[in-house]
Amino acid sequence: MSDPDVMTAFTSGLADINLDESSTPRTGARAAGMKSASASIYDMAATLSGRGDLWNWGMDDPTLVAEIQALLPGFTEFGTDGFSEQLYYLALRDLPIGLDDYAGRVVLEVGCGMGEGLNFLSRIAHGARMTGLDLSPRAVARATATLSRGEDLRFVRGDAEELPIEDGSVDILVNIESSHTYPDLERFLREAERVLRPGGILTHIDVFTRQRFRTMRRITEEIHGLKWIADHDISAEVRAAVRRRMAPDSHFRRVLDRQRMNPLVRRIAAHSQILMFGGMFAGYQPPTSIRVLSKLGIVPWMSGLPMESYRHQVAVRT
Ligand SMILES: C[S@@+](CC[C@H](N)C(=O)[O-])C[C@H]1O[C@@H](n2cnc3c(N)ncnc32)[C@H](O)[C@@H]1O
Repeated sequence: MSDPDVMTAFTSGLADINLDESSTPRTGARAAGMKSASASIYDMAATLSGRGDLWNWGMDDPTLVAEIQALLPGFTEFGTDGFSEQLYYLALRDLPIGLDDYAGRVVLEVGCGMGEGLNFLSRIAHGARMTGLDLSPRAVARATATLSRGEDLRFVRGDAEELPIEDGSVDILVNIESSHTYPDLERFLREAERVLRPGGILTHIDVFTRQRFRTMRRITEEIHGLKWIADHDISAEVRAAVRRRMAPDSHFRRVLDRQRMNPLVRRIAAHSQILMFGGMFAGYQPPTSIRVLSKLGIVPWMSGLPMESYRHQVAVRT
């Protein structure tokens, strides 16, 4: 598939998965096509991303920033803006297992991207054995080359719906802004149920359309081995981070400004980045120049999916 074909397959797959409860592609050619497009998209992202980059929309909560600073002073040392790390911190905060109780525990992150988030967690939850798993071969190769540390932090390629992990072997399963791309959410949650040991915890963070949230509620009622103990709507904090990233003096705008691009190309690049990092969810309105270019068909117009909420949900394996 060429790059535009991959993008079309990915966006139409996302729409199928997140908008249509009845015809969610569960298996077969459509699901396989979506996964192949998804792997290609994140392979491209892995080629373009720099050290320290995370791939989620982030959240902005000063209380969390203060707590992270206390645990890990200078946690944005690779020059990130720290919003994405806050989501990772939230994933482990307030769980039945405290941050001082990770020695020897097995942590699995499904959909780990280039591994930067899991690496960050390894610095605040000491002594755990952490594995990051992702569908994108290039993301896994980058994570392995730059971050792996023997049994303490390793990365494997795999599919969330078919985890290459032994039954009952995981203490904490982390999943951040990844499951909305899985054709079969039920298969993933059943895999989580299978690989978690009794008392193990699934900490799940993602963005939802109204339809996908309903699908998730229906599925969770049917999976008896996972007892859901929290469901927090963190949309306001996520929107706050996206808005700060969109602001004219933001870290991400400064990174773009450093690159040698003509001003119009930079504006187009900023527009695509804002769309990818939750702009529509935070009420982004493209500038007039982008509207004109998109009317002329020069810049693709992406309205994005009508995402309704961004949530943190926690389940315990019974
Ligand atoms: C938006 S990125 C988030 C990455 C990372 N969790 C973060 O917050 O920076 C979504 C990730 O999910 C991965 N992914 C998508 N479908 C997957 C699947 N079926 N199995 C495993 N990983 C998948 C993608 O390759 C990508 O790395």
